[in-house]
Amino acid sequence: MLSSSQSQQVITCRAAVAWGKGEELVIEEVEVSPPQSQEIRIKVVSTSLCRSDISALDSQPIFPRIFGHEASGIVESVGSEVTEFKKGDHVLTLFTGECRTCSHCTSGKSNICQVLGLERKGLMHSDQGTRFSVKGKPIYHYCAVSSFSEFTVVHSGCAVKVNASAPLEKICLLSCGAAAGMGAVWNVANVLEGSKVVIFGLGTVGLSVAQAAKLRGASHIIGVDINSAKCDKAKAFGVTQFINPNECSEPVQQVIKRITDGGADYAFECIGDTGMVTTALQSCCDGWGLTVTLGVPKVKPEVSAHYALLLTGRTLKGCLFGGWKPKSDLPSLVDMYMKKEIQIDEFITHNLQFEDINEALNLMREGKCLRCVIHMPK
Ligand code: APR
Ligand code: ZN
Repeated sequence: MLSSSQSQQVITCRAAVAWGKGEELVIEEVEVSPPQSQEIRIKVVSTSLCRSDISALDSQPIFPRIFGHEASGIVESVGSEVTEFKKGDHVLTLFTGECRTCSHCTSGKSNICQVLGLERKGLMHSDQGTRFSVKGKPIYHYCAVSSFSEFTVVHSGCAVKVNASAPLEKICLLSCGAAAGMGAVWNVANVLEGSKVVIFGLGTVGLSVAQAAKLRGASHIIGVDINSAKCDKAKAFGVTQFINPNECSEPVQQVIKRITDGGADYAFECIGDTGMVTTALQSCCDGWGLTVTLGVPKVKPEVSAHYALLLTGRTLKGCLFGGWKPKSDLPSLVDMYMKKEIQIDEFITHNLQFEDINEALNLMREGKCLRCVIHMPK
């Protein structure tokens, strides 16, 4: 550990840098600036790979960049005006922050912070600058987290202190996908006991939806995925019926309507395909059918649907991070995990060392993993 006088110095460490669209990440020596006012510098302990990292790597034009946004770590140093954190605190990073003072944060109705919300330009919220460089060249951030680095700097509103006895190499999953799925069921849809639920896409996000729907006592949890290898794991998370649309002789929405006797009460889009949003709406019942979107599309962002689907009472609802107010709500999710009320270990299909980070990307691209936890050097 560095002493407090050293802590305000630039740290040179290793980070996986993306130099161009779709390219392999390159482990580079990077300089990490000291945390500025209201910022903290974190020693990343574990970071899991989420589909959104790959989608952004493959589609967005901002390079060079350090990806990674689902992470846990230990506070290394704090900038001025930080009272909430101290060196040694265990934290989860937040890809969408919570300032606790803006109109949304104080509304009680929204988790879309107007100050520290999803950052899309690859910069820090506060001064639109970067905290990373390689040989003097600035490196962009991702979602103001950039956890594919041994050290990173985040705004203090983009991290949350958690129970220090919780295993950091597991709870990193709660910083994005696993929590998002559960939140969509509990906060956004508010799924009721005995409901019929259909989930499109059975990655970590979709399986978290399944787990949460099961905990709410849903009677039908229909899982839809084009990869039949997802079936067994899906059943372990509560999916009652698995459908591979490619093996159906009729459109999947018709199959779902038949199984559910008129349509599901709730549909969750967990793929990131706007065409599937339409299919999800078509799979819901008249009157009250609710489709919740969790996926983040990398192509064709427009949604289209026949107006009659809405005229007959269906609702389409979007959400970010499952509606959780990240700073306020994540510590209690971590506590639920510690009390074994929710399971996340089962999402971890692979563990890799930082040097092998490209292998994690390959595994996810090939559909062979749910979550791969990348362990940073100790
Ligand atoms: N129909 C059905 N299932 C599909 C289809 C399709 N057309 N296309 C892909 N899938 C399945 C994949 O086989 C995979 O099992 O969707 C699943 C997506 O899972 P992951 O790739 O593991 O993604 P995950 O991390 O769960 O994220 C899902 O949420 O956070 C966002 O950006 C993320 O859009 C992504 C979504
Ligand atoms: Zn706010």
